[in-house]
Amino acid sequence: MPALPASAPSNSSWRRHASPASAALSSPPKSLLLLLPVLLLLLFALSRAPDLAFSSTSTAAVAAAHSSYSSGHLRPFDCYASPQASPVVANLVEGVPHPFFYSLADMGTLPDRPHKNIARLLKGKRFRKPDISETIQGLLGGEVGRGGPPGGVVVDVGANVGMASFAAAVMGFRVVAFEPVFENLQRICDGVYLNRVRDCVVVYHAAASDRVGNITMHKVIGRLDNSAISATGAKLAFKSNEEIAVVVSTIPLDEVIPDTERVLMIKIDVQGWEYHVLRGATKLLSRTKGEAPYLIYEEDERLLQASNTSSQEIRAFLSSVGYNDCTRRGTDAHCTKE
Ligand SMILES: *[C@@H]1O[C@H](CO)[C@@H](O)[C@H](O)[C@H]1NC(C)=O
Ligand SMILES: *[C@@H]1O[C@H](CO)[C@@H](O)[C@H](O)[C@H]1NC(C)=O
Repeated sequence: MPALPASAPSNSSWRRHASPASAALSSPPKSLLLLLPVLLLLLFALSRAPDLAFSSTSTAAVAAAHSSYSSGHLRPFDCYASPQASPVVANLVEGVPHPFFYSLADMGTLPDRPHKNIARLLKGKRFRKPDISETIQGLLGGEVGRGGPPGGVVVDVGANVGMASFAAAVMGFRVVAFEPVFENLQRICDGVYLNRVRDCVVVYHAAASDRVGNITMHKVIGRLDNSAISATGAKLAFKSNEEIAVVVSTIPLDEVIPDTERVLMIKIDVQGWEYHVLRGATKLLSRTKGEAPYLIYEEDERLLQASNTSSQEIRAFLSSVGYNDCTRRGTDAHCTKE
């Protein structure tokens, strides 16, 4: 990991780490230079006129989508009733069958590397085919949900800025997303607005876990996507970044997802907390073959150990609820009840 001095002027010093080949490709396309100010202006205008932003979506549809998800313990986060962060820096994901917008944060002074999406954006590149977005659109466009009744939701645990949620939502799928880091949640709200998916995305400001309560988690400043419940886990990849402890709500998926709701897929990427999320979804995961969701979770042994669990413990648990077919794809495990 190349560490930069904290005082380094960020743009040029990030470039120093780029390979000569990627530096040669880095002149920003005109379309992007035009797009950014337009987006910023648009969002500024809309933040001044919240009523205008509301008018395009049916309030009744939104209310219906959200009310079926009010657990006794926690209500969905209302993006449209919350303060709008500014500036908004948005970009288009391309190279996927259904392109979508995402919004970024982490623009501060960064000891370790900025998120690769930000580095790309500053070089004038669009974000091309994030692995998880491509995977999700591929599965939802194909094997997942085929044969069953239409409908069903995609559950995105550790949604970060929504690379999985929006990939699914722009295909017309309903999404229930969980994100405990408030800065990321604001980026999800930007994406809900930019992608016009307010009526199909429900988002919780919470960490999914195995119990209802509160837990301390550790935000990694400048790399919020690496925030983790385990303090050790938060420090694993970006050792020199500042880390801030915050208390967040926890909720089991079984408390939120109604028994009657068909769930097509669950994606979990929670920096080592995967086992606890799965334990909190025991009822959901125990559904019979054909009703049980397709499962994707990040399987990073070091992060799991920092949370006092292991991939072996997870596989044993999954097997006990009938997930007997797991395969590794990159850093993720994909499991079904085949
Ligand atoms: C979590 O913290 C909030 C605010 O401090 C408190 O009201 C709530 O009772 C706590 N929940 C649990 C289950 O401990
Ligand atoms: C893991 O276990 C150690 C020792 O019991 C404890 O101090 C630590 O807080 C645990 N970590 C997590 C994330 O639960």
